[in-house]
Amino acid sequence: MIDIQSVDYSTQIPNNVGLTEDRQVLRALERWHPGYLDWWQDMGPEGYQEALVYLRTAISVDPKGWAKFDYVRMPEYRWGVLLAPKEEGRKVNFGAHLGEPAWQEVPGEYRAMLRRLIVVQGDTEPASVEQQRHLGKTAPSLYDMRNLFQVNVEEGRHLWAMVYLLHKYFGRDGRDEADELLRRRSGSEDAPRMLGAFNEATPDWLSFFMFTFFTDRDGKMQLESLAQSGFDPLSRTCRFMLTEEAHHMFVGETGVGRTIQRTCEAMKEAGIEDANEIDKIRARGVVDLPTLQKKMNLHYSLSLDLFGSEVSTNAANFYNAGLKGRFHETRITDDHRLTSGTYPVAKFVDGEIRLVDEPALTALNMRLRDNYTQDCAKGVERWNKVIEKTGVDFRLALPHTAFHRQIGEFKGVKANPKGELLGDAQWEKERDNYLPSRADGAFIESLMKAEMRPGQFASWIAPPKVGIDNKPGDFEYVKID
Ligand SMILES: [Fe+2]
Ligand SMILES: [Fe+2]
Repeated sequence: MIDIQSVDYSTQIPNNVGLTEDRQVLRALERWHPGYLDWWQDMGPEGYQEALVYLRTAISVDPKGWAKFDYVRMPEYRWGVLLAPKEEGRKVNFGAHLGEPAWQEVPGEYRAMLRRLIVVQGDTEPASVEQQRHLGKTAPSLYDMRNLFQVNVEEGRHLWAMVYLLHKYFGRDGRDEADELLRRRSGSEDAPRMLGAFNEATPDWLSFFMFTFFTDRDGKMQLESLAQSGFDPLSRTCRFMLTEEAHHMFVGETGVGRTIQRTCEAMKEAGIEDANEIDKIRARGVVDLPTLQKKMNLHYSLSLDLFGSEVSTNAANFYNAGLKGRFHETRITDDHRLTSGTYPVAKFVDGEIRLVDEPALTALNMRLRDNYTQDCAKGVERWNKVIEKTGVDFRLALPHTAFHRQIGEFKGVKANPKGELLGDAQWEKERDNYLPSRADGAFIESLMKAEMRPGQFASWIAPPKVGIDNKPGDFEYVKID
């Protein structure tokens, strides 16, 4: 009997989906593979393709012991196709098909919709690798560099996960879409990535940590709702991706947390009480807390845009079709059809921001975004605890949802982080108080000096409490010749 928990390494593509017996799909993936490797060489981490990196690789989909750690050259990483184990008797848990057996094949009437969902998710995965490709050169430690590369190779694997679905279930147009995923480029003029936040630059490590905290968390929410899908292969794929995704958010949360820690320590050492004494604080080679707040404002607002319009018929259609559910759908107690019921949506009415009840079915994006905000807020509270412990008097807070938005109800609205409306002139005047200014960017850049000695850290960030895979503090996470 085949152990479905373990992964077959006998093919070029590690997998637990029986690729050896699925010659056609195996061949399609083998044809796609060289293009993927070319993409990785061109757009993956710049300058470290030959370095030995202490990475985890999935060897099983058993949640209790799925990964092993070893030194790997990134281009030799075993990217594979891994699905969470099949649950016998799984049903469609929401929408018009509630209670029917989950689909093992693509339901014909929803083919285009399903393909769209998979392509949009798939497009984000390589995009973040592209955005982060320059960061190796300024890593604040080998520990952080390893974490960056771990996130990068796993985003590469997430691309594989979506590409497998395209090849396996969508025939010719699936193959075309898989090729397009390698053709688009983050920030490109003629072939940009599909979503806004994935075309923004990630210029420095603080941006990287904020991105993995805020934007990977959007990814988590999207994967959570796709993990509810009635299309079983998509659900199983997303469930396993979520296991990996947790580490990405860990990297973001602890990265920002360690930055805060170092700043507060430096303030204490220098006897600086006021967190707004920016010049004095910066002179200590650390990032002042008001600038961290601005970075947060930027990344949170960009990530809110990823949820799309608050009121959306697309979201309603995905739900009705049983393709994309709500966060923790099966734990919610209601009819799971949303034929009646409302949900409060923040809207811009008569020049004011108000909560308006909308049909729950069309308000699904808003609901998922609220779940996201709650999740973010918990992380921000943990950062505030770090500040509190050091005795520094300062609190970080998420900006209002109307702040700095490009999509949905508050597009074009000028509001400050408290949600107070501003005129154009006032916004121009105050913008640099709310979002990172050029000067802030230049200062952060000046701190971004690589620290490549094992166990050493750049001036602006504290060491982690524990090593990866319980390694000691001076462990050589990346071997660079
Ligand atoms: Fe991902
Ligand atoms: Fe991620």
